[in-house]
Amino acid sequence: MIFQIFFYILILFFSSLGIADDVAIGNEIYHENCSACHGKEMLKPGLAFDLKKFPKEDFQRFRNSVLNGKGSGMPAWSVKLSEEDIKLLWLYVKTASDI
Ligand code: HEC
Repeated sequence: MIFQIFFYILILFFSSLGIADDVAIGNEIYHENCSACHGKEMLKPGLAFDLKKFPKEDFQRFRNSVLNGKGSGMPAWSVKLSEEDIKLLWLYVKTASDI
Protein backbone atom coordinates (compact mmCIF):
# COMPACT_ATOMS: atom_id res chain seq x y z
CA MET A 1 0.00 0.00 0.00
CA ILE A 2 2.68 2.49 1.03
CA PHE A 3 4.73 1.44 -1.94
CA GLN A 4 1.73 2.01 -4.24
CA ILE A 5 1.19 5.50 -2.88
CA PHE A 6 4.86 6.27 -3.27
CA PHE A 7 4.78 4.99 -6.83
CA TYR A 8 1.70 7.05 -7.61
CA ILE A 9 3.31 10.22 -6.29
CA LEU A 10 6.39 9.45 -8.35
CA ILE A 11 4.29 9.07 -11.50
CA LEU A 12 2.43 12.29 -10.74
CA PHE A 13 5.70 14.08 -10.20
CA PHE A 14 7.26 12.96 -13.46
CA SER A 15 4.19 13.43 -15.57
CA SER A 16 3.02 16.78 -14.22
CA LEU A 17 4.10 18.58 -17.39
CA GLY A 18 2.36 16.02 -19.55
CA ILE A 19 -0.83 16.36 -17.53
CA ALA A 20 -1.00 20.08 -18.21
CA ASP A 21 -0.83 19.28 -21.95
CA ASP A 22 -3.57 16.68 -21.62
CA VAL A 23 -5.88 19.18 -19.92
CA ALA A 24 -5.27 21.59 -22.82
CA ILE A 25 -6.24 18.89 -25.34
CA GLY A 26 -9.32 18.01 -23.26
CA ASN A 27 -10.21 21.69 -23.30
CA GLU A 28 -10.06 21.72 -27.11
CA ILE A 29 -12.26 18.64 -27.42
CA TYR A 30 -14.70 20.25 -25.00
CA HIS A 31 -14.87 23.44 -27.06
CA GLU A 32 -15.41 21.57 -30.29
CA ASN A 33 -18.15 19.28 -29.03
CA CYS A 34 -19.63 20.26 -25.70
CA SER A 35 -19.48 24.01 -25.05
CA ALA A 36 -22.50 24.80 -27.25
CA CYS A 37 -24.76 23.17 -24.64
CA HIS A 38 -22.67 23.00 -21.47
CA GLY A 39 -21.38 26.57 -21.74
CA LYS A 40 -18.06 28.14 -22.58
CA GLU A 41 -15.55 27.02 -19.90
CA MET A 42 -18.49 25.14 -18.33
CA LEU A 43 -20.12 28.42 -17.29
CA LYS A 44 -23.80 29.22 -17.90
CA PRO A 45 -24.84 25.75 -19.09
CA GLY A 46 -28.43 26.88 -19.69
CA LEU A 47 -30.71 23.86 -19.82
CA ALA A 48 -27.91 21.29 -19.97
CA PHE A 49 -26.30 19.69 -16.93
CA ASP A 50 -23.88 21.94 -14.99
CA LEU A 51 -20.64 19.97 -15.42
CA LYS A 52 -18.97 21.85 -12.58
CA LYS A 53 -21.35 19.95 -10.31
CA PHE A 54 -20.65 16.52 -11.76
CA PRO A 55 -19.41 14.08 -9.03
CA LYS A 56 -15.62 14.02 -9.44
CA GLU A 57 -15.17 10.45 -8.28
CA ASP A 58 -17.60 8.97 -10.81
CA PHE A 59 -15.68 8.47 -14.05
CA GLN A 60 -17.82 5.46 -14.97
CA ARG A 61 -21.00 7.57 -14.96
CA PHE A 62 -19.26 10.29 -16.99
CA ARG A 63 -17.96 7.80 -19.53
CA ASN A 64 -21.31 6.08 -19.80
CA SER A 65 -23.30 9.31 -20.26
CA VAL A 66 -20.88 10.69 -22.84
CA LEU A 67 -20.70 7.45 -24.85
CA ASN A 68 -24.42 6.64 -24.75
CA GLY A 69 -26.06 10.03 -24.21
CA LYS A 70 -28.66 10.84 -21.59
CA GLY A 71 -32.34 11.82 -21.63
CA SER A 72 -33.58 13.59 -24.76
CA GLY A 73 -31.03 16.43 -24.76
CA MET A 74 -27.62 14.82 -24.40
CA PRO A 75 -26.36 13.19 -27.61
CA ALA A 76 -24.39 9.91 -27.64
CA TRP A 77 -20.76 10.49 -28.62
CA SER A 78 -19.57 6.94 -29.15
CA VAL A 79 -19.45 7.45 -32.93
CA LYS A 80 -17.36 10.57 -32.76
CA LEU A 81 -15.15 10.35 -29.65
CA SER A 82 -12.62 7.69 -28.67
CA GLU A 83 -11.95 6.29 -25.19
CA GLU A 84 -8.83 8.45 -25.13
CA ASP A 85 -10.88 11.60 -25.99
CA ILE A 86 -13.24 10.83 -23.11
CA LYS A 87 -10.37 10.45 -20.67
CA LEU A 88 -8.96 13.81 -21.80
CA LEU A 89 -12.40 15.42 -21.47
CA TRP A 90 -12.75 13.98 -17.98
CA LEU A 91 -9.36 15.44 -17.04
CA TYR A 92 -10.50 18.83 -18.31
CA VAL A 93 -13.89 18.67 -16.55
CA LYS A 94 -12.29 17.70 -13.23
CA THR A 95 -9.55 20.32 -13.46
CA ALA A 96 -11.71 23.20 -14.66
CA SER A 97 -14.24 22.54 -11.90
CA ASP A 98 -11.65 23.31 -9.25
CA ILE A 99 -10.94 26.79 -10.59
C1 HEC B 1 -26.97 19.26 -27.82
C2 HEC B 1 -26.61 19.69 -26.49
C3 HEC B 1 -25.49 18.94 -25.76
C4 HEC B 1 -24.21 18.71 -26.19
C5 HEC B 1 -23.56 19.13 -27.51
C6 HEC B 1 -23.55 17.99 -25.10
N1 HEC B 1 -24.43 17.79 -24.06
FE1 HEC B 1 -24.01 16.84 -22.31
N2 HEC B 1 -25.96 17.12 -21.69
C7 HEC B 1 -26.93 17.80 -22.41
C8 HEC B 1 -28.18 17.76 -21.65
C9 HEC B 1 -29.50 18.41 -22.06
C10 HEC B 1 -27.92 17.02 -20.46
C11 HEC B 1 -28.92 16.64 -19.35
C12 HEC B 1 -29.44 15.25 -19.70
C13 HEC B 1 -30.44 14.71 -18.70
O1 HEC B 1 -30.09 14.54 -17.52
O2 HEC B 1 -31.57 14.41 -19.14
C14 HEC B 1 -26.51 16.65 -20.52
C15 HEC B 1 -25.86 15.91 -19.55
C16 HEC B 1 -24.51 15.63 -19.55
C17 HEC B 1 -23.82 14.94 -18.48
C18 HEC B 1 -24.44 14.42 -17.18
C19 HEC B 1 -24.98 13.06 -17.41
C20 HEC B 1 -25.38 12.40 -16.12
O3 HEC B 1 -24.81 11.34 -15.84
O4 HEC B 1 -26.21 12.94 -15.41
C21 HEC B 1 -22.51 14.86 -18.84
C22 HEC B 1 -21.39 14.22 -18.05
C23 HEC B 1 -22.38 15.50 -20.13
N3 HEC B 1 -23.62 15.95 -20.54
C24 HEC B 1 -21.19 15.63 -20.81
C25 HEC B 1 -21.07 16.15 -22.10
C26 HEC B 1 -19.84 16.15 -22.85
C27 HEC B 1 -18.49 15.69 -22.32
C28 HEC B 1 -20.14 16.69 -24.07
C29 HEC B 1 -19.21 16.86 -25.25
C30 HEC B 1 -18.58 15.66 -25.76
C31 HEC B 1 -21.56 17.00 -24.08
N4 HEC B 1 -22.09 16.65 -22.87
C32 HEC B 1 -22.22 17.58 -25.14
C33 HEC B 1 -26.77 18.41 -23.64
C34 HEC B 1 -25.63 18.37 -24.42
